[in-house]
Amino acid sequence: MADFCTIFRHPLITLFLTLSLSISPTTQQQLAASDLNALRQITYSLTDVKTGRFFATWNFSSPETPCYSFSGVTCAVVNGDLRVVSLYLGTGLSDSPGLAGAIPADAMYELTELTQLILYPGIVTGFIPDQIGQLKNLRVISLTNNRLTGTIPESIFELQNLHTLDLSHNKLTGVIPPTLVSASPELRVFVLAYNELAGDIPEFSNESQLIHVDLSNNMLAGKFPETLPATLRYLSLSSNGLWGPVNGVPSSYLVYLDLSMNKFSGPIPDSLFRPTLSSMYLQRNNFSGELTPPSTSSPESYGPGSTVDLSHNFLSGEIPDFLSGVETLFLNNNRFAGKVPEGYVRNVFGGMTKTLYLQHNYLTAFPMEKSGVLPEGVALCLSYNCMVPPAVGLTACPARAGGPFSRPFRQCSVFDSGNSMG
Ligand SMILES: *[C@@H]1O[C@H](CO)[C@@H](O)[C@H](O)[C@H]1NC(C)=O
Ligand SMILES: *[C@@H]1O[C@H](CO)[C@@H](O)[C@H](O)[C@H]1NC(C)=O
Ligand SMILES: *[C@@H]1O[C@H](CO)[C@@H](O)[C@H](O)[C@H]1NC(C)=O
Repeated sequence: MADFCTIFRHPLITLFLTLSLSISPTTQQQLAASDLNALRQITYSLTDVKTGRFFATWNFSSPETPCYSFSGVTCAVVNGDLRVVSLYLGTGLSDSPGLAGAIPADAMYELTELTQLILYPGIVTGFIPDQIGQLKNLRVISLTNNRLTGTIPESIFELQNLHTLDLSHNKLTGVIPPTLVSASPELRVFVLAYNELAGDIPEFSNESQLIHVDLSNNMLAGKFPETLPATLRYLSLSSNGLWGPVNGVPSSYLVYLDLSMNKFSGPIPDSLFRPTLSSMYLQRNNFSGELTPPSTSSPESYGPGSTVDLSHNFLSGEIPDFLSGVETLFLNNNRFAGKVPEGYVRNVFGGMTKTLYLQHNYLTAFPMEKSGVLPEGVALCLSYNCMVPPAVGLTACPARAGGPFSRPFRQCSVFDSGNSMG
């Protein structure tokens, strides 16, 4: 027994055992010819950039099947044939330069059992082949951070099993296919951010089960969609040219909403002020009117981790009580007037509120004790209002808030009489 253990631990023996276990070419099933051909097509069309090593393992002369030796290729036995079911093109490592070339249309046509197609960041150019819509089993398409051009093939939305579509950070143009009305019933994640897409936001089917939609940083124009999937948890339409009032935001599951840097106008719907919607970015729009508390008062309040940014709009009236529990709150550069409610002062000095930006409004008082000391890490800015701000209200102003500590008296009196000031 002791002898056996000694022998077994011998490095050479261990090496031998490992090798004989991993090499068994005769028992390997061969990859279907069409898929093998498709992989070949890929190497004719896509290449490593300079120092990249992704295709180093793609050796078509090796007796091993690509399923076990090519990096990024995963296979499964489908109806008795060994087929490629997922392709991860590129290493995905942050120090990897990625791939260059184009996505080969012919290869896409043949990989009919593909469920996942991932292209990692690189400098791949050209169009997304229309043939992609033929790959009926695709569940995940992620072609991000490359230089893809052209329009989004409508055929993608005919894929009945598609769960995730991420084409973000490319140079795609044209409109988002409006066929989303009848789109992939399984689609949950829909990310087209950072492209050059124009036109309207597509209409979503009322039966859509979308959870995550990011269309930010495009050139979309037009109005806020009339209906959005009730299942949404994450919606970003930031940095587009969208305008008009915002209505019909589904409320039940939404936790993240970013409509910043558009031209949305009218009042902010009170239904958006729910603590469960804990990250809300509406800054740099054209919203106006007073903030009204949600009609259905909820027992919870905003808490740790919550962020609400309403800065750079035309909001007026008094600052409402119901936002006082928000951890990071930006109300600066609006037309708020009157006294800051005491709840805000308490939360700032208690350290529950970490950031409170109220600069560039028409506020008249911040009711605090004379000798308030801000807790470590709390940022408060009160400059350029209709009051002499307390010293603690100037220490954390962002450099760009600049300017004098108080708004000129002339503007404050004009504002009181109802005239609009820019
Ligand atoms: C590819 O595999 C063949 C056969 O096993 C081998 O002779 C050759 O050296 C390999 N090429 C590379 C670049 O590894
Ligand atoms: C979706 O809209 C259609 C047509 O208006 C309607 O018949 C259907 O009941 C709606 N489905 C849901 C889940 O609301
Ligand atoms: C933004 O609001 C201002 C004043 O409320 C208005 O004059 C302007 O036309 C609005 N711009 C857009 C694009 O809605």
